[in-house]
Amino acid sequence: MKKLIYILPLFFVLILSCAEENESTVIVEIDETPYVLEYGNLPEPDLPADNALTKQGVQLGRMLFYEKMLSKDNSQSCASCHNQSDGFSDTLQFSVGVEMKEGKRQAMSIFNMGWHSNEFFWDGRAELLRDQSLLPIEDPLEMNETIENVIDKLSGQPLYTDQFTRAFGSEEITAEKMSLAMEQFMLSIVSYDSKYDKYLAGELQLSESEERGRILFETEYNPFFPEMSGADCAHCHGGANFENDQYMNNGLDADADFADLGREEVTGDLSDKAKFKTPSLRNIALTPPYMHDGRFQTLEEVVEHYDLHIKQSTTLDPALVQVADNGGLNLSEQDKMDLVNFLKTLTDYTFLNNPEYSDPF
Ligand code: HEC
Ligand code: HEC
Repeated sequence: MKKLIYILPLFFVLILSCAEENESTVIVEIDETPYVLEYGNLPEPDLPADNALTKQGVQLGRMLFYEKMLSKDNSQSCASCHNQSDGFSDTLQFSVGVEMKEGKRQAMSIFNMGWHSNEFFWDGRAELLRDQSLLPIEDPLEMNETIENVIDKLSGQPLYTDQFTRAFGSEEITAEKMSLAMEQFMLSIVSYDSKYDKYLAGELQLSESEERGRILFETEYNPFFPEMSGADCAHCHGGANFENDQYMNNGLDADADFADLGREEVTGDLSDKAKFKTPSLRNIALTPPYMHDGRFQTLEEVVEHYDLHIKQSTTLDPALVQVADNGGLNLSEQDKMDLVNFLKTLTDYTFLNNPEYSDPF
Protein backbone atom coordinates (compact mmCIF):
# COMPACT_ATOMS: atom_id res chain seq x y z
CA MET A 1 0.00 0.00 0.00
CA LYS A 2 2.78 2.38 0.90
CA LYS A 3 4.39 1.62 -2.43
CA LEU A 4 1.21 2.38 -4.31
CA ILE A 5 1.01 5.81 -2.65
CA TYR A 6 4.42 6.59 -4.08
CA ILE A 7 3.73 5.11 -7.47
CA LEU A 8 0.30 6.65 -8.08
CA PRO A 9 1.39 10.31 -8.27
CA LEU A 10 4.20 9.28 -10.55
CA PHE A 11 1.65 7.65 -12.81
CA PHE A 12 -0.40 10.85 -13.00
CA VAL A 13 2.66 12.94 -13.69
CA LEU A 14 3.47 10.60 -16.55
CA ILE A 15 -0.03 10.79 -18.02
CA LEU A 16 -0.02 14.57 -17.66
CA SER A 17 3.31 15.02 -19.36
CA CYS A 18 2.19 12.78 -22.22
CA ALA A 19 -0.90 14.91 -22.68
CA GLU A 20 1.19 18.05 -22.64
CA GLU A 21 3.47 16.64 -25.29
CA ASN A 22 0.52 15.87 -27.52
CA GLU A 23 -0.82 19.38 -27.15
CA SER A 24 2.49 21.01 -28.08
CA THR A 25 3.05 18.88 -31.21
CA VAL A 26 2.75 21.36 -34.09
CA ILE A 27 0.42 20.24 -36.81
CA VAL A 28 1.92 21.21 -40.14
CA GLU A 29 -0.75 22.12 -42.62
CA ILE A 30 -1.35 24.60 -45.41
CA ASP A 31 -1.73 28.21 -44.31
CA GLU A 32 -3.09 30.48 -46.99
CA THR A 33 -2.91 33.76 -45.04
CA PRO A 34 -2.34 36.38 -47.75
CA TYR A 35 0.90 38.34 -47.78
CA VAL A 36 0.07 42.03 -47.60
CA LEU A 37 2.24 43.81 -50.13
CA GLU A 38 3.09 47.38 -49.17
CA TYR A 39 4.02 49.76 -51.93
CA GLY A 40 3.42 53.30 -50.72
CA ASN A 41 2.46 55.63 -53.55
CA LEU A 42 3.51 53.34 -56.40
CA PRO A 43 0.71 52.44 -58.82
CA GLU A 44 -1.01 49.03 -58.56
CA PRO A 45 1.43 46.22 -59.30
CA ASP A 46 0.85 43.67 -62.02
CA LEU A 47 0.81 40.43 -60.01
CA PRO A 48 0.22 36.98 -61.52
CA ALA A 49 -3.37 35.87 -60.85
CA ASP A 50 -2.36 32.21 -60.58
CA ASN A 51 0.26 32.66 -57.85
CA ALA A 52 -1.30 34.81 -55.14
CA LEU A 53 1.24 35.91 -52.53
CA THR A 54 0.80 34.13 -49.19
CA LYS A 55 2.88 34.59 -46.04
CA GLN A 56 4.06 30.99 -46.17
CA GLY A 57 4.78 31.06 -49.91
CA VAL A 58 6.87 34.23 -49.57
CA GLN A 59 8.68 32.73 -46.56
CA LEU A 60 9.51 29.55 -48.49
CA GLY A 61 10.72 31.62 -51.44
CA ARG A 62 12.91 33.63 -49.11
CA MET A 63 14.43 30.44 -47.66
CA LEU A 64 15.14 29.14 -51.19
CA PHE A 65 16.61 32.49 -52.28
CA TYR A 66 19.15 32.28 -49.45
CA GLU A 67 19.67 28.48 -49.71
CA LYS A 68 23.17 27.42 -50.73
CA MET A 69 21.99 23.85 -51.44
CA LEU A 70 20.67 25.25 -54.71
CA SER A 71 24.26 25.18 -56.00
CA LYS A 72 26.46 22.26 -56.97
CA ASP A 73 28.93 22.50 -54.09
CA ASN A 74 26.50 24.07 -51.62
CA SER A 75 28.55 27.27 -51.62
CA GLN A 76 26.32 29.71 -53.45
CA SER A 77 22.77 31.03 -53.11
CA CYS A 78 20.84 33.50 -55.23
CA ALA A 79 21.82 36.11 -52.63
CA SER A 80 25.53 35.53 -53.36
CA CYS A 81 25.04 37.59 -56.53
CA HIS A 82 21.91 39.46 -55.45
CA ASN A 83 22.97 41.10 -52.22
CA GLN A 84 20.37 43.08 -50.25
CA SER A 85 22.92 45.71 -49.18
CA ASP A 86 23.81 46.28 -52.86
CA GLY A 87 20.16 46.67 -53.91
CA PHE A 88 19.96 42.90 -54.56
CA SER A 89 22.67 43.22 -57.18
CA ASP A 90 26.37 42.39 -57.35
CA THR A 91 29.16 44.95 -57.41
CA LEU A 92 31.44 42.77 -59.55
CA GLN A 93 31.54 43.52 -63.27
CA PHE A 94 30.79 39.86 -63.97
CA SER A 95 29.46 37.62 -61.21
CA VAL A 96 31.49 34.51 -60.43
CA GLY A 97 29.68 31.15 -60.33
CA VAL A 98 30.47 28.02 -58.30
CA GLU A 99 33.10 26.81 -60.78
CA MET A 100 34.85 30.17 -60.38
CA LYS A 101 33.85 30.98 -63.95
CA GLU A 102 32.79 34.53 -64.80
CA GLY A 103 29.39 35.16 -66.31
CA LYS A 104 29.12 37.40 -69.34
CA ARG A 105 26.75 40.04 -68.00
CA GLN A 106 26.42 42.24 -64.95
CA ALA A 107 23.99 40.98 -62.29
CA MET A 108 20.68 42.83 -62.31
CA SER A 109 19.05 44.24 -59.22
CA ILE A 110 15.87 42.63 -57.89
CA PHE A 111 13.01 44.80 -56.63
CA ASN A 112 9.66 46.05 -57.94
CA MET A 113 9.36 42.98 -60.15
CA GLY A 114 5.58 43.43 -60.12
CA TRP A 115 6.04 46.73 -61.91
CA HIS A 116 7.75 45.20 -64.97
CA SER A 117 5.39 44.18 -67.71
CA ASN A 118 8.08 42.71 -69.91
CA GLU A 119 10.28 39.67 -69.50
CA PHE A 120 13.34 38.99 -67.34
CA PHE A 121 17.12 39.17 -67.84
CA TRP A 122 18.95 41.83 -69.87
CA ASP A 123 17.67 40.19 -73.07
CA GLY A 124 14.26 39.16 -71.69
CA ARG A 125 14.80 35.46 -72.36
CA ALA A 126 12.67 34.38 -69.37
CA GLU A 127 9.04 35.22 -69.96
CA LEU A 128 7.85 34.91 -66.37
CA LEU A 129 9.66 35.41 -63.10
CA ARG A 130 8.90 31.80 -62.17
CA ASP A 131 10.67 30.59 -65.37
CA GLN A 132 13.59 32.86 -64.56
CA SER A 133 13.97 31.56 -61.01
CA LEU A 134 15.08 28.05 -62.01
CA LEU A 135 17.57 29.07 -64.72
CA PRO A 136 20.47 30.20 -62.46
CA ILE A 137 20.43 26.78 -60.76
CA GLU A 138 21.31 24.91 -63.95
CA ASP A 139 23.47 27.63 -65.52
CA PRO A 140 27.03 26.26 -65.72
CA LEU A 141 28.41 29.78 -65.14
CA GLU A 142 26.26 30.26 -62.06
CA MET A 143 25.09 27.54 -59.63
CA ASN A 144 25.74 24.62 -62.01
CA GLU A 145 23.45 22.13 -60.23
CA THR A 146 20.55 20.00 -61.53
CA ILE A 147 17.02 20.71 -60.32
CA GLU A 148 16.74 16.98 -59.56
CA ASN A 149 19.68 17.11 -57.13
CA VAL A 150 18.31 20.22 -55.46
CA ILE A 151 14.98 18.48 -54.91
CA ASP A 152 16.82 15.45 -53.45
CA LYS A 153 18.86 17.64 -51.11
CA LEU A 154 15.86 19.63 -49.87
CA SER A 155 13.57 16.59 -49.53
CA GLY A 156 15.85 15.24 -46.81
CA GLN A 157 15.22 18.25 -44.60
CA PRO A 158 12.13 18.54 -42.36
CA LEU A 159 12.69 22.32 -42.37
CA TYR A 160 11.79 22.24 -46.06
CA THR A 161 9.22 19.45 -46.19
CA ASP A 162 7.33 21.29 -43.42
CA GLN A 163 7.57 24.63 -45.20
CA PHE A 164 6.44 23.16 -48.55
CA THR A 165 3.42 21.74 -46.70
CA ARG A 166 2.63 25.13 -45.12
CA ALA A 167 2.93 26.87 -48.48
CA PHE A 168 1.41 24.33 -50.86
CA GLY A 169 -0.41 21.70 -48.79
CA SER A 170 1.89 18.73 -49.35
CA GLU A 171 5.50 17.99 -48.51
CA GLU A 172 6.40 16.83 -51.99
CA ILE A 173 9.03 19.16 -53.44
CA THR A 174 8.76 19.92 -57.16
CA ALA A 175 10.47 22.33 -59.53
CA GLU A 176 7.16 24.09 -60.10
CA LYS A 177 6.54 24.72 -56.40
CA MET A 178 10.11 25.97 -55.96
CA SER A 179 9.69 28.39 -58.84
CA LEU A 180 6.33 29.66 -57.60
CA ALA A 181 7.73 30.28 -54.12
CA MET A 182 10.78 32.13 -55.45
CA GLU A 183 8.50 34.18 -57.70
CA GLN A 184 6.46 35.12 -54.62
CA PHE A 185 9.50 36.18 -52.63
CA MET A 186 10.94 38.25 -55.47
CA LEU A 187 7.56 39.92 -56.01
CA SER A 188 7.50 40.82 -52.31
CA ILE A 189 10.72 42.87 -52.60
CA VAL A 190 9.48 46.42 -53.12
CA SER A 191 11.30 49.73 -53.08
CA TYR A 192 9.07 52.77 -52.63
CA ASP A 193 10.60 54.84 -49.85
CA SER A 194 13.46 56.81 -51.38
CA LYS A 195 14.08 60.50 -50.81
CA TYR A 196 12.41 61.04 -54.20
CA ASP A 197 9.26 59.20 -53.03
CA LYS A 198 9.16 61.34 -49.90
CA TYR A 199 9.51 64.40 -52.11
CA LEU A 200 6.60 63.19 -54.30
CA ALA A 201 4.51 62.68 -51.18
CA GLY A 202 5.25 66.29 -50.13
CA GLU A 203 7.16 65.16 -47.04
CA LEU A 204 10.41 66.94 -47.90
CA GLN A 205 12.04 69.14 -50.49
CA LEU A 206 14.88 68.26 -52.80
CA SER A 207 18.06 70.34 -52.55
CA GLU A 208 18.56 72.98 -55.20
CA SER A 209 20.98 70.75 -57.09
CA GLU A 210 18.74 67.66 -56.88
CA GLU A 211 15.78 69.69 -58.11
CA ARG A 212 17.76 71.01 -61.10
CA GLY A 213 18.82 67.41 -61.79
CA ARG A 214 15.21 66.23 -61.67
CA ILE A 215 14.17 68.86 -64.20
CA LEU A 216 17.07 67.99 -66.53
CA PHE A 217 16.22 64.29 -66.18
CA GLU A 218 12.59 64.85 -67.14
CA THR A 219 12.95 67.57 -69.78
CA GLU A 220 13.18 66.65 -73.45
CA TYR A 221 16.31 67.24 -75.46
CA ASN A 222 15.98 70.23 -77.73
CA PRO A 223 18.64 70.49 -80.43
CA PHE A 224 17.47 73.94 -81.56
CA PHE A 225 17.45 75.75 -78.24
CA PRO A 226 20.24 74.23 -76.20
CA GLU A 227 19.72 76.75 -73.40
CA MET A 228 16.25 75.21 -72.89
CA SER A 229 17.29 71.65 -73.52
CA GLY A 230 17.05 68.76 -71.06
CA ALA A 231 18.83 65.41 -70.82
CA ASP A 232 15.66 63.47 -71.71
CA CYS A 233 16.49 60.50 -69.47
CA ALA A 234 12.79 60.01 -68.64
CA HIS A 235 12.19 59.34 -72.34
CA CYS A 236 13.28 55.77 -71.53
CA HIS A 237 13.68 55.67 -67.73
CA GLY A 238 10.15 56.93 -67.17
CA GLY A 239 7.18 56.36 -64.89
CA ALA A 240 7.15 55.43 -61.24
CA ASN A 241 9.72 52.68 -61.74
CA PHE A 242 12.09 54.64 -63.99
CA GLU A 243 11.96 52.19 -66.90
CA ASN A 244 9.78 51.55 -69.94
CA ASP A 245 9.44 47.78 -70.36
CA GLN A 246 11.33 47.92 -73.66
CA TYR A 247 14.60 46.73 -75.16
CA MET A 248 16.74 49.52 -76.54
CA ASN A 249 20.17 50.41 -77.79
CA ASN A 250 21.53 53.35 -75.80
CA GLY A 251 24.62 53.92 -77.91
CA LEU A 252 27.31 51.99 -76.06
CA ASP A 253 28.99 50.66 -79.24
CA ALA A 254 29.17 51.02 -83.00
CA ASP A 255 28.05 48.02 -85.11
CA ALA A 256 31.57 46.69 -85.55
CA ASP A 257 32.07 46.51 -81.76
CA PHE A 258 28.92 44.69 -80.67
CA ALA A 259 30.23 41.95 -78.37
CA ASP A 260 26.80 40.88 -77.09
CA LEU A 261 23.78 40.77 -79.41
CA GLY A 262 21.34 41.10 -76.52
CA ARG A 263 17.67 40.87 -77.47
CA GLU A 264 18.52 39.61 -80.98
CA GLU A 265 19.77 36.35 -79.42
CA VAL A 266 16.22 35.75 -78.17
CA THR A 267 14.09 36.95 -81.08
CA GLY A 268 16.46 36.31 -84.00
CA ASP A 269 15.32 39.69 -85.28
CA LEU A 270 18.10 41.89 -86.70
CA SER A 271 16.27 45.02 -85.57
CA ASP A 272 16.86 43.82 -81.96
CA LYS A 273 20.63 43.73 -82.36
CA ALA A 274 22.47 44.96 -79.26
CA LYS A 275 19.25 46.02 -77.58
CA PHE A 276 18.91 45.47 -73.85
CA LYS A 277 16.18 45.88 -71.28
CA THR A 278 15.91 49.48 -70.06
CA PRO A 279 16.65 48.95 -66.36
CA SER A 280 14.99 50.75 -63.47
CA LEU A 281 17.11 53.57 -62.04
CA ARG A 282 15.73 53.20 -58.53
CA ASN A 283 18.61 52.48 -56.09
CA ILE A 284 21.02 53.07 -58.96
CA ALA A 285 23.73 54.63 -56.74
CA LEU A 286 24.03 51.25 -54.99
CA THR A 287 24.34 49.00 -58.01
CA PRO A 288 27.59 49.77 -59.81
CA PRO A 289 29.08 48.85 -62.17
CA TYR A 290 26.67 49.97 -64.87
CA MET A 291 25.22 48.63 -68.15
CA HIS A 292 24.75 44.97 -69.19
CA ASP A 293 28.52 44.50 -69.31
CA GLY A 294 29.32 46.63 -66.27
CA ARG A 295 31.61 48.87 -68.31
CA PHE A 296 31.07 52.04 -66.24
CA GLN A 297 32.11 52.23 -62.60
CA THR A 298 30.41 55.48 -61.63
CA LEU A 299 27.26 57.48 -62.35
CA GLU A 300 29.49 60.33 -63.50
CA GLU A 301 30.84 58.05 -66.26
CA VAL A 302 27.28 57.10 -67.24
CA VAL A 303 26.22 60.74 -67.56
CA GLU A 304 29.41 61.48 -69.53
CA HIS A 305 28.43 58.64 -71.90
CA TYR A 306 24.99 60.13 -72.61
CA ASP A 307 26.44 63.63 -72.85
CA LEU A 308 29.25 63.10 -75.32
CA HIS A 309 29.97 59.48 -76.22
CA ILE A 310 26.86 57.98 -77.79
CA LYS A 311 27.97 55.74 -80.68
CA GLN A 312 25.94 55.69 -83.86
CA SER A 313 24.80 52.24 -85.00
CA THR A 314 22.02 50.59 -87.02
CA THR A 315 19.80 50.00 -83.98
CA LEU A 316 20.56 53.13 -81.93
CA ASP A 317 17.35 54.57 -80.48
CA PRO A 318 16.08 57.49 -82.65
CA ALA A 319 15.99 59.86 -79.67
CA LEU A 320 19.69 59.26 -79.14
CA VAL A 321 20.50 59.44 -82.88
CA GLN A 322 19.29 63.02 -82.69
CA VAL A 323 21.54 63.72 -79.68
CA ALA A 324 24.58 62.13 -81.35
CA ASP A 325 23.89 63.99 -84.62
CA ASN A 326 23.93 67.27 -82.76
CA GLY A 327 27.18 66.64 -80.93
CA GLY A 328 25.72 65.54 -77.60
CA LEU A 329 23.46 66.75 -74.82
CA ASN A 330 25.59 69.83 -74.26
CA LEU A 331 25.57 69.52 -70.45
CA SER A 332 27.63 71.86 -68.25
CA GLU A 333 29.70 70.53 -65.34
CA GLN A 334 26.95 71.80 -63.03
CA ASP A 335 24.27 69.99 -65.06
CA LYS A 336 26.16 66.71 -64.81
CA MET A 337 26.61 67.07 -61.07
CA ASP A 338 22.93 67.91 -60.64
CA LEU A 339 21.84 64.86 -62.64
CA VAL A 340 23.99 62.58 -60.49
CA ASN A 341 22.66 64.22 -57.33
CA PHE A 342 19.12 63.60 -58.53
CA LEU A 343 19.90 59.93 -59.27
CA LYS A 344 21.14 59.58 -55.70
CA THR A 345 17.72 60.61 -54.38
CA LEU A 346 16.41 57.30 -55.74
CA THR A 347 18.22 55.31 -53.02
CA ASP A 348 15.80 53.67 -50.61
CA TYR A 349 17.32 52.83 -47.22
CA THR A 350 14.07 51.32 -45.90
CA PHE A 351 14.18 48.64 -48.59
CA LEU A 352 17.90 48.05 -48.06
CA ASN A 353 17.38 47.40 -44.37
CA ASN A 354 13.98 45.71 -44.50
CA PRO A 355 14.34 42.60 -42.28
CA GLU A 356 11.62 40.80 -44.28
CA TYR A 357 14.01 40.52 -47.22
CA SER A 358 17.08 39.45 -45.24
CA ASP A 359 18.73 36.04 -44.80
CA PRO A 360 16.28 33.94 -42.74
CA PHE A 361 18.92 31.47 -41.56
C1 HEC B 1 26.62 33.74 -60.15
C2 HEC B 1 25.78 34.90 -59.93
C3 HEC B 1 24.28 34.74 -59.91
C4 HEC B 1 23.54 33.85 -59.17
C5 HEC B 1 24.02 32.75 -58.25
C6 HEC B 1 22.15 34.18 -59.44
N1 HEC B 1 22.06 35.26 -60.29
FE1 HEC B 1 20.36 36.18 -60.90
N2 HEC B 1 21.42 37.28 -62.23
C7 HEC B 1 22.80 37.22 -62.38
C8 HEC B 1 23.16 37.88 -63.62
C9 HEC B 1 24.59 38.03 -64.15
C10 HEC B 1 21.97 38.35 -64.23
C11 HEC B 1 21.82 39.00 -65.59
C12 HEC B 1 21.97 37.83 -66.58
C13 HEC B 1 21.52 38.07 -67.99
O1 HEC B 1 20.82 39.02 -68.26
O2 HEC B 1 21.90 37.27 -68.86
C14 HEC B 1 20.88 37.96 -63.30
C15 HEC B 1 19.54 38.27 -63.51
C16 HEC B 1 18.53 37.91 -62.62
C17 HEC B 1 17.15 38.36 -62.71
C18 HEC B 1 16.56 39.28 -63.78
C19 HEC B 1 16.07 40.59 -63.25
C20 HEC B 1 15.41 41.46 -64.30
O3 HEC B 1 15.11 42.63 -63.99
O4 HEC B 1 15.17 41.02 -65.43
C21 HEC B 1 16.47 37.77 -61.67
C22 HEC B 1 15.01 37.94 -61.32
C23 HEC B 1 17.43 36.93 -60.96
N3 HEC B 1 18.66 37.06 -61.55
C24 HEC B 1 17.09 36.08 -59.90
C25 HEC B 1 17.96 35.09 -59.42
C26 HEC B 1 17.54 33.97 -58.59
C27 HEC B 1 16.13 33.69 -58.14
C28 HEC B 1 18.66 33.23 -58.32
C29 HEC B 1 18.77 31.94 -57.54
C30 HEC B 1 17.95 30.83 -57.97
C31 HEC B 1 19.77 33.91 -58.98
N4 HEC B 1 19.30 35.01 -59.65
C32 HEC B 1 21.07 33.49 -58.89
C33 HEC B 1 23.68 36.62 -61.51
C34 HEC B 1 23.34 35.60 -60.63
C1 HEC C 1 16.84 55.72 -75.59
C2 HEC C 1 16.59 55.23 -74.28
C3 HEC C 1 17.44 55.74 -73.14
C4 HEC C 1 17.70 57.05 -72.77
C5 HEC C 1 17.25 58.32 -73.44
C6 HEC C 1 18.49 56.96 -71.57
N1 HEC C 1 18.71 55.66 -71.22
FE1 HEC C 1 19.79 55.00 -69.67
N2 HEC C 1 19.62 53.09 -70.34
C7 HEC C 1 18.89 52.69 -71.44
C8 HEC C 1 19.13 51.30 -71.72
C9 HEC C 1 18.52 50.46 -72.83
C10 HEC C 1 20.07 50.86 -70.74
C11 HEC C 1 20.72 49.47 -70.65
C12 HEC C 1 21.78 49.42 -71.72
C13 HEC C 1 22.73 48.28 -71.66
O1 HEC C 1 23.11 47.84 -70.58
O2 HEC C 1 23.16 47.83 -72.73
C14 HEC C 1 20.33 52.03 -69.90
C15 HEC C 1 21.18 52.01 -68.80
C16 HEC C 1 21.35 53.07 -67.93
C17 HEC C 1 22.07 52.99 -66.69
C18 HEC C 1 22.73 51.75 -66.12
C19 HEC C 1 21.73 50.90 -65.37
C20 HEC C 1 22.29 49.64 -64.79
O3 HEC C 1 21.57 49.01 -64.01
O4 HEC C 1 23.41 49.25 -65.10
C21 HEC C 1 22.02 54.25 -66.12
C22 HEC C 1 22.60 54.65 -64.79
C23 HEC C 1 21.28 55.09 -67.03
N3 HEC C 1 20.90 54.35 -68.13
C24 HEC C 1 21.03 56.44 -66.81
C25 HEC C 1 20.49 57.28 -67.78
C26 HEC C 1 20.50 58.72 -67.69
C27 HEC C 1 21.05 59.52 -66.51
C28 HEC C 1 19.95 59.18 -68.84
C29 HEC C 1 19.80 60.62 -69.30
C30 HEC C 1 21.03 61.35 -69.41
C31 HEC C 1 19.58 58.02 -69.64
N4 HEC C 1 19.93 56.90 -68.96
C32 HEC C 1 18.96 58.07 -70.88
C33 HEC C 1 18.07 53.50 -72.19
C34 HEC C 1 18.09 54.88 -72.17
